[in-house]
Amino acid sequence: MSYRIEMKHITKIFGSLIANDDISIAIKKGEIHAILGENGAGKSTLMSILFGLYRPEKGDIYYDGKKVEINNPNDANRIGIGMVHQHFKLVEAFSVIDNIILGKEDARFGILSYIEARKKINQLIEKYNLRVDLDAIIKDISVGMQQRVEILKMLYRDSDVLIFDEPTAVLTPQEITELIQIMKNFSKEGKTIILISHKLNEIKQVADRCTVLRRGKLIQTVNVSDVSIKQMAEMMVGRSVSFEVHKQDAVLGDIILEVNQLHVDGESKPKVKDVSFQVRSGEIVGIAGIDGNGQTELIHALTGLRPIDGGSVRLKGIDITSLSIRQKYELGLAHIPEDRQKHGVILDFDLQSNLILQNFYQKQFQNHTFLRFDEILNHANELIEQFDIRSEGGAETILRSMSGGNQQKAIVSRELSKAHDLLIAVQPTRGLDVGAIEYIHSQLIKERDDHKAVLLVSLEIDEILDISDRILVMFEGEIIAEMNAKDADVNTLGRYMLGHRGGESS
Ligand SMILES: Nc1ncnc2c1ncn2[C@@H]1O[C@H](COP(=O)(O)OP(=O)(O)O)[C@@H](O)[C@H]1O
Ligand SMILES: [Mg+2]
Repeated sequence: MSYRIEMKHITKIFGSLIANDDISIAIKKGEIHAILGENGAGKSTLMSILFGLYRPEKGDIYYDGKKVEINNPNDANRIGIGMVHQHFKLVEAFSVIDNIILGKEDARFGILSYIEARKKINQLIEKYNLRVDLDAIIKDISVGMQQRVEILKMLYRDSDVLIFDEPTAVLTPQEITELIQIMKNFSKEGKTIILISHKLNEIKQVADRCTVLRRGKLIQTVNVSDVSIKQMAEMMVGRSVSFEVHKQDAVLGDIILEVNQLHVDGESKPKVKDVSFQVRSGEIVGIAGIDGNGQTELIHALTGLRPIDGGSVRLKGIDITSLSIRQKYELGLAHIPEDRQKHGVILDFDLQSNLILQNFYQKQFQNHTFLRFDEILNHANELIEQFDIRSEGGAETILRSMSGGNQQKAIVSRELSKAHDLLIAVQPTRGLDVGAIEYIHSQLIKERDDHKAVLLVSLEIDEILDISDRILVMFEGEIIAEMNAKDADVNTLGRYMLGHRGGESS
């Protein structure tokens, strides 16, 4: 059997971390090959080596059986390897067509070859059904469209091996379905696809084979049709996992949060427009939406991270519209913030200090301006035990040196252990692995069952559907739909997220 790509005994070291440890992988011509692994497993590193962004400490790469030197992305392009990165690398102020051509201009680039270029790009658009407006400016088009530009960029360079690094993370369900079809078309044309992902059902839908990495090491390459999703998950995390979210029907209590005609100004148009809703004790209300539709501003306004420009907010009937963060906190607000490193923790403090960031001034931890260190340590040890927060040095570990998942657990433990009636959780599982996600989901449901009011904001449609009792959809600063989670499905929700209001169909 001859392979299109072989990477043999690849080792890549960053400082003291072995990101890729003696990894060998072989990719067949025309297959869709998934690279599966938890965050930090080494997937992007391995593919960045193939694309010439990193040089490995050890190991060789073969293309069609011949050894090749790939020292930079230009070498990769010349060989026929293209990559769509997790974070796009487009020039925001340029047009679509200029971005596609950029770096590949003919030395004699003039009107004629520009026309040729446009012709070639239009043929590619036609052939692969990659409709996009060539003259639009990048910053004016959606993320899904920007991704198409990245794909066209690879095709324009005649790449035969297409690497996609977590391409669906930024897409709506409809866009994901389209992308999967596009990838299948590529494979039919004989192109070779490498798909980095940690989404198991996507891999199941689209990939022929799958290579699993865990903590820098190769676990196994398998035929996707031979394994179940559960088996793939277990290979990925190294233990058995449960996907089912078990929950009883919600038992509604009093109104805890009441938002009335909330308004947040923006530069040209409002970021949040006349938003009104309520959250009762005993329910989880999920706010769905594509990134950038006002969710961040809404939550900042509710929690006090930014001022409110109009409307009012009540917590347990008390008007908190213009109260400070600390006043809201003392009235019973808990908040797992979207940007955990900026608003959730102090990275250079140790774990025990981070666990009392908002209540260090209270009697429990302070005695006539002296901090009660024994109490602080006890408190930390209790939370570490209860929430299984793992670190090298326990309560005294500096937060910066802890993994993202454990930093998040620290925040979750702090917020859930304080006295509160309302929990606002924003993207609580972003970037976490399957095990930590399972844990945080169970905690959110436990909150609800303990009669707290929970407001969940997430970009993950599955998370919204699994966890919420009631769902609101935000689009361009407004809430355009509300539904019972039991009546919602991925497709309806996805259509609302794209701005289709009730009754319309696409
Ligand atoms: N440029 C870099 N410098 C230092 N460490 C890095 C760098 N790139 C990645 N790492 C580390 O290498 C490990 C693997 O990262 P990565 O390949 O990005 O994982 P994945 O794509 O599977 O999430 C992680 O622990 C990450 O923090
Ligand atoms: Mg990655």
